[in-house]
Amino acid sequence: MEEVIKIEGGHSLSGTVRVSGSKNATVALIPAAILAHGPVTICGVPNISDVRSLSVLLKELGIEVIRKGEDILIIDPSQMKNMPMVSDTVGKLRASYYFMGALLGKYGHVEMKMPGGCYLGPRPIDLHVKGFEALGATVHYEHGTYIIDAKELTGNKIFLDISSVGATINIMMAAVYAKGRTTIENAAKEPEIIDVATLLNKMGAKIRGVGTNVITIDGVDYLNGCFHEIIPDRIEAATYLVLAAAAADDVTVENIIPQHLESLLSKLHEIGIRMEIGIDYVKVMGRDELHATDIKTLPYPGFATDIQQPLTALLTQANGQSIVTETIYQERFKHCHELNKMGANINVMSPSAMINGPTPLTGCEVVATDLRCGACLVIAGLLAEGVTTIHEIYHIDRGYDNLDGKLNALGAKLWREVIE
Ligand code: EPU
Repeated sequence: MEEVIKIEGGHSLSGTVRVSGSKNATVALIPAAILAHGPVTICGVPNISDVRSLSVLLKELGIEVIRKGEDILIIDPSQMKNMPMVSDTVGKLRASYYFMGALLGKYGHVEMKMPGGCYLGPRPIDLHVKGFEALGATVHYEHGTYIIDAKELTGNKIFLDISSVGATINIMMAAVYAKGRTTIENAAKEPEIIDVATLLNKMGAKIRGVGTNVITIDGVDYLNGCFHEIIPDRIEAATYLVLAAAAADDVTVENIIPQHLESLLSKLHEIGIRMEIGIDYVKVMGRDELHATDIKTLPYPGFATDIQQPLTALLTQANGQSIVTETIYQERFKHCHELNKMGANINVMSPSAMINGPTPLTGCEVVATDLRCGACLVIAGLLAEGVTTIHEIYHIDRGYDNLDGKLNALGAKLWREVIE
């Protein structure tokens, strides 16, 4: 028995869609909340399975978690216990690794099995480990489990060889209680990192420089509870913008921060999409002929790797050859194979994919091999003639809040079926 998503393509979309709180911020904010000694209330929490998995992990640590209304999560770590994190839930998502930094920062001891997440090629965590060690921790990896210990954490200067989002956030969390000043150089600058630092600072941390490539953290003795509202999800917003560019005459994507999407908006403009950009919305007003373009994924503010997959579905409809070059995850091209099943003409020669368009797409059976591959296939399904059946949709449900409801409200024909 398997649940699949089916999409009948060819319907023109219109209306307004509201973007939810950022998944990649949320999955770091939830572990960050455990550094507090009182309740942390987070507002704008998306209803996605990654949040449900993190809530299970919180409960395993003896933390009270209350879901209030549609999008509020109250996390009360005052009675928490530092238990080994070895349940199967740890392996369900990548973001489990944020408990490493948080537990190390709070207790000086962590036992955690290898985190999971989408397979995008090798995803090492050596930079996280290097950061923990620079703060004075010892890290052992035995039988699939990390054991991290520190009698005392002391601030240090840490240079990241690669501007890693995960390492930047994890080191920030480990350093909030460390003695003295920690400096992270070549830090990542993604908006989600700013959001996590904002939460920690509201709790009483002293973090400066987020959003630049040098972050300083002055250790404190105590963090209290607070209230925080999550930033809108720029990747979900991008998905709806690309989807609107592919299949709509008039769709407004609201609750977005256009500044977070500049690299995408300029590409959409370049390929021929008509848009109106407001303070917190973007209205997509259709297109004439689509022009091919080249894209190179880069750390923020460059073109996000998470957006190249959905955009590739749109580029199958552009005139000429587009080249997508992936510099973050060189194996992040499984969606191209699925698009080819639907009639696309894409040649993958890692680290690039050559998309020759325009090609009509036809609905068929495809597999969401990872979260953003799933988003790409939803867009392709909306464009295709006939019905597209998407398998392994648990990947999509990890990161898209109410995808079915949002799309059907725009006039799409998308439904779920349980098949043998
Ligand atoms: N890297 C290392 N060593 C490390 C850490 C990273 O070599 O210790 C490499 C990675 O292999 C990759 C590059 O550095 O080549 C960047 O990785 P980064 O650490 O920035 O990625 P991440 O923190 O694991 C987050 C998002 C991803 C997003 C990337 C890049 C979360 C939970 N995940 O992953 O989001 O693609 O940043 O922006 O925030 C998604 O949303 O679908 C997704 C995969």
